[in-house]
Amino acid sequence: MSLIDKIKYAADYIRNIYSGKIDVAVILGSGLGSLVEYIDNKVVIKYSDIPNFPKSTVKGHAGELIIGDLEGKKVLAMNGRFHYYEGYSMETVTFPVRVMKFLGVEKLIVTNAAGGMNPEFEPADLMIITDHINMIGDNPLIGPNYDELGARFPDMSNAYDKQLIELAKNCAKRLDIDIKEGVYIPVSGPNYETPAELKMLRTIGGDAVGMSTVPEVIVANHMSMKVLGVSCITDMALADELEPLEHSKVVETANRAQKKFVNLVKEVIKEL
Ligand code: HPA
Repeated sequence: MSLIDKIKYAADYIRNIYSGKIDVAVILGSGLGSLVEYIDNKVVIKYSDIPNFPKSTVKGHAGELIIGDLEGKKVLAMNGRFHYYEGYSMETVTFPVRVMKFLGVEKLIVTNAAGGMNPEFEPADLMIITDHINMIGDNPLIGPNYDELGARFPDMSNAYDKQLIELAKNCAKRLDIDIKEGVYIPVSGPNYETPAELKMLRTIGGDAVGMSTVPEVIVANHMSMKVLGVSCITDMALADELEPLEHSKVVETANRAQKKFVNLVKEVIKEL
């Protein structure tokens, strides 16, 4: 089956369950799943029931699409994402974003947990992603281009929509959240970085490092969707004072910031 047919098949399955409009989609990163508790009139669809959808393998990531009402908008939330380090191809990692577009979604909010490389950051800070440097070493658009999806050489000058960034900053101000801004660098993982790697990533312009998000952002831009990205800084990834890091600490800090994060995303959705 061609990629287009696979996308159509999955989108048709979802449309048979929910056929209304969707104002915005949200991809929920590690430990940020509690946003779904605020969604009313929920339709919950397990990834495992959607044709051609992969299954989540990481602990702490559920595997469900939730469609419902949040702050006066119809929201599609992806609770649990697919990571390149799980062994999925880039096409698979980004497949859900393709399906979103076929469901009529034009705006996408992506969230993640990330290590803070900017020494002015602190654990549990939120960072609006202003730009990225793709250091995964792969790209979801490699291979034949489907012109019906987007251009062969897509523009990335506004990969993180400037208007959405402004809106998010204003929302943070209103909620009295001390919001940071910066460049997100994704690496493949799954290991955390060595001090020498962090030194390089900071030197080339990164403020935060993580293992996700950018494949989805590239594909969303390929299809002319508008993207807002927000990272939760879960640990300090400083080359000179690096401490041993475990996933449980990342989840713990993400949980600590969860309320603030959820409040911000809700406020942004309200103001869209
Ligand atoms: N490095 C990479 N990915 C991460 C980190 C980190 O320090 N923290 C959370 N995700």
